[in-house]
Amino acid sequence: MKKNGDQKDMKLIWGITGTGYLMRESIDLMKELQDNYDIDITVILSKEGAAVVKWYKKWLLLTETVKKVKVEKTPNIPFYAGPLQLGNYDLFLACPVSANSVAKIVCGIADTLITNCVAQAIKGGQTVYIFPSDQDTEPIVTSRPNGSTLVLKIRDIELENIKKLKQMEGIVVISKFSEIKQLILQKIKEKS
Ligand SMILES: Cc1cc2nc3c(=O)[nH]c(=O)nc-3n(C[C@H](O)[C@H](O)[C@H](O)COP(=O)(O)O)c2cc1C
Repeated sequence: MKKNGDQKDMKLIWGITGTGYLMRESIDLMKELQDNYDIDITVILSKEGAAVVKWYKKWLLLTETVKKVKVEKTPNIPFYAGPLQLGNYDLFLACPVSANSVAKIVCGIADTLITNCVAQAIKGGQTVYIFPSDQDTEPIVTSRPNGSTLVLKIRDIELENIKKLKQMEGIVVISKFSEIKQLILQKIKEKS
């Protein structure tokens, strides 16, 4: 429910990487949350995240939906790693997260905006919520930028990396997209 009075918005930082999986659904959820709840969303994208959003012709939709949309120039520019490390946000969610970014995170690599923010936030004792795009044992049904259906096989290496991700300190892996809304609503409730 929308606030009346001095209540503070729940500050959510939403990371997007270069995968088309559930991209439209993610933007729709951002809109629904902003329309109905006290929430301040900042979207940060890896370079490839921005490229893929554009491939799917969703850039306009994203930037019309969310006021603060920031694209990686370097792992530290724009500088969100520091504020995330200090816990300046109520929630850091990365969704969807590509197989590439998952692989980097489990290896401790922090050379993109999103993987760096994940690493630094955890080093600061924060929890990071991650929804990986390639985590099902069955092939995933996604769509091509032109809207046609695309079935993608998930490789063993991706499943191994998901297992490792689940064991990492400071990370909560979200298995189902529907759980994201519940998570955010819970954080809003805690804030109010
Ligand atoms: C249109 C398009 C769709 C893509 N979809 C996926 C996907 O579903 N899953 C995935 O892991 N990578 C996907 N990729 C590949 C990633 O974008 C690529 O691995 C990139 O290096 C990821 O960089 P990032 O993890 O820094 O965002 C896609 C690429 C394009 C151009």
